Amino acid sequence: MKQKMVVLSGAGISAESGIKTFRDSGGLWEGHDVMEVASPQGWARNPELVLDFYNQRRKQARNCKPNGAHHALVELEREFDVHIITQNVDNLHEKAGSSKVLHLHGELFKAQSSLDPKLIYDLSIIDINLGDKCERGSQLRPNVVWFGEPVFAMDPAIEITRKADLFLVIGTSLQVYPAASLIDFVPKSKPIYLIDPQPITTYNRQNVIQIQDKAVNGMERFKSILNKR
Ligand code: APR
Repeated sequence: MKQKMVVLSGAGISAESGIKTFRDSGGLWEGHDVMEVASPQGWARNPELVLDFYNQRRKQARNCKPNGAHHALVELEREFDVHIITQNVDNLHEKAGSSKVLHLHGELFKAQSSLDPKLIYDLSIIDINLGDKCERGSQLRPNVVWFGEPVFAMDPAIEITRKADLFLVIGTSLQVYPAASLIDFVPKSKPIYLIDPQPITTYNRQNVIQIQDKAVNGMERFKSILNKR
């Protein structure tokens, strides 16, 4: 049976595809305060601005291609049972061809009801506009988990993390909870590999191997470490 490789990815894996990370841009996300465009309060204040913001993100992401790091994760499926848990709302893991991708913070190319977050619709490339309604008659909003909202996918993410034979963290600052707490569920005897150009704090966690590099090159180094095991 193949070993289970569980991967937690964040904005950094998509950086070399041209999608900006959050915390590298001085607290502003594409020129906006994150609370303005990524919180229930921001949505209540100005839904039009929020819809427009995500419509633009969708247009931008539509033209982005997966990079070598996304592709490397697909190749690893030959040898490992790879489960990707991503904080990203882009679809670059899917575009590359990864078969098991769990989106912790929702998906840019989906819409959700503003009344019932479980009502989710495929969006392909179209915009969401004011007046677009769900089947229960409420305004559609982006299927993105905003600050202060529950992360429904945490339970399945924890379940798979508990079964990991090895855990890879790539391109995340591990500053946003509950996503960052997943490393606490990796069995203590199993290794955690961490690819990021910056040193990332993992507190007292043992068995952490840091590969201080960008995603594409870091994945090459990770693969050669695996080959030498
Ligand atoms: N390759 C790999 N990592 C990179 C690269 C690169 N080319 N460029 C930057 N990074 C790293 C940064 O050093 C940083 O550690 O990617 C990380 C990005 O961190 P954040 O911007 O904090 O993104 P992320 O951890 O995914 O944010 C988590 O916060 O805003 C919310 O919901 C949003 O899902 C997001 C969550």
